Amino acid sequence: MAYRIRRAGRADASFLVEMVCEAANWHPDRMRAKADLLADPRVMRYARGWKRPADDGVIAVDDVGDSIGACWYRVLPRNEPGYGFVASGVPELTLGVRPVWRAQGVGRALLEAACDLARDAGHQRISLSVERANFAERLYRSEGFVVVASGDDADTMVRTLRG
Ligand SMILES: CC(C)(COP(=O)(O)OP(=O)(O)OC[C@H]1O[C@@H](n2cnc3c(N)ncnc32)[C@H](O)[C@@H]1OP(=O)(O)O)[C@@H](O)C(=O)NCCC(=O)NCCS
Repeated sequence: MAYRIRRAGRADASFLVEMVCEAANWHPDRMRAKADLLADPRVMRYARGWKRPADDGVIAVDDVGDSIGACWYRVLPRNEPGYGFVASGVPELTLGVRPVWRAQGVGRALLEAACDLARDAGHQRISLSVERANFAERLYRSEGFVVVASGDDADTMVRTLRG
């Protein structure tokens, strides 16, 4: 199936909300209700108020222009950090692909494109949080992310983007 990747814009805000819900609900046996996720500021801080000046990301779209996946980053403040916070100014990354489009290379292509954007924006590092049981951790490792901190179930990972 054909897809292309484009820069995310302000009009993609609602799709990013959808994708952060996919990321939060990655485990099929531990699905939270959409309303519960929408009311959870720790989840919604990755998407609400998009697109602030320091936000950027990419969207994968199918051949009729429908959005099928997204990877984006935000610089979250120390007093309202994301799960992958490592330091002020280091952007935190989120990745999600619609279920029917998974395992076809879309996630890796989005991840690479979003890291390129962050590097081009001058960021030296980018971080994320991933539950250790999620195969996505292997994807991140293969793209140069390393574990810098570990909780009970999740790891914080960082990729160096430049020098
Ligand atoms: C994680 C996610 C974004 C990956 O996107 P994707 O388009 O499915 O991934 P890709 O097709 O690019 O595959 C990337 C790698 O993961 C592997 N992979 C894909 N699906 C897999 C699965 N179900 N189990 C194990 N490995 C898998 C692929 O083999 C590929 O590795 P390879 O290039 O060495 O072959 C997607 O599965 C998703 O949206 N999951 C739910 C949300 C989520 O977990 N987000 C991350 C939260 S930190």
